[in-house]
Amino acid sequence: MREKSSILGEIAASNQSFGRFAFRPARIKRTVEENSRVKSFYLESKGMEPPRPGQFFMIWLPGFEEVPMSVSDAGAGYVRISVSNEGPTTAEFHRLDGGELIFLRGPFGNGFSLSGRSFLLVGGGYGAAPLIYAAKSITGAGGRCTFLVGARNKEELLFVGEARGLGIRTTVATEDGSEGYRGLVTDLLKTELKKRSYQAVLTCGPEMMMYEVVRQAVKLRIRVQASLERFMKCGFGICGSCVLDPLGLRVCSDGPVFDGALLLKTDFGKRKRGASGAQVRLC
Ligand SMILES: Cc1cc2nc3c(=O)[nH]c(=O)nc-3n(C[C@H](O)[C@H](O)[C@H](O)COP(=O)(O)OP(=O)(O)OC[C@H]3O[C@@H](n4cnc5c(N)ncnc54)[C@H](O)[C@@H]3O)c2cc1C
Ligand code: FES
Repeated sequence: MREKSSILGEIAASNQSFGRFAFRPARIKRTVEENSRVKSFYLESKGMEPPRPGQFFMIWLPGFEEVPMSVSDAGAGYVRISVSNEGPTTAEFHRLDGGELIFLRGPFGNGFSLSGRSFLLVGGGYGAAPLIYAAKSITGAGGRCTFLVGARNKEELLFVGEARGLGIRTTVATEDGSEGYRGLVTDLLKTELKKRSYQAVLTCGPEMMMYEVVRQAVKLRIRVQASLERFMKCGFGICGSCVLDPLGLRVCSDGPVFDGALLLKTDFGKRKRGASGAQVRLC
């Protein structure tokens, strides 16, 4: 029986010439428990193309599924992914710690368009992950942003402390009222859009939350971008698993970030395809 490490080494060596389309090994430098569901992994990124906010990687743990994960931060020598424990593969991630090796392909997707000076960011659950990276990039370039963060309860709030540490005005909504406003983050959005003006809204989180964010922003004629989730297999546009009907947009390569007005012409907020390709109703 061959050693697991020698098989993994061979995979890495044989894939070197395929750039971001091939698996590359990435060592976990350190991990951080962000909240009761989400653990962040700082991965070594030597020789890797720097990801843009909103881009994602396909992450593979040998023996488990390959799954898409957004970048929640990146800097000199590292990228960070923040994994919510949702099922078998993500649960296995939560058992890993510093020093272990995982495999990734990417970065894939378009990322957010960050032209402009004032942004309102609306995140729900682990959807806060790509937004905190966008917030860091906006403030680093001298822009202004406000972060509205929603979760079921205070134990599931994500990146609130990190955003405040970056000097970002951050307001919280929890469904059970255990912290901040009691109710939905989309209620906070309604109030915020009445009080202040923004050039653009960025959103990521549960689809029905994003649908409401897009609906409110489009009604007020504010530019809005939403980062979508669809079931991904290839991650770069060839399998059709992640397509948005009826326009045929591929979330992995045309997105995952889309203009809200365009999304309203698709099945966004109504239906999505599951692992088998069959459509599932969202509402
Ligand atoms: C572009 C994109 C970015 C994402 N970013 C993050 C992130 O930053 N943090 C995070 O925790 N999660 C993120 N996800 C979701 C993450 O991929 C799923 O939670 C993960 O695949 C669940 O796998 P599992 O085996 O643990 O659970 P399962 O029980 O297999 O699935 C749980 C849920 O995840 C969905 N899912 C499973 N496999 C896939 C797949 N291949 N593609 C898309 N959805 C899948 C299922 O439809 C199901 O709703 C992202 C998804 C997409 C599409
Ligand atoms: S995941 Fe294959 S086309 Fe998008």
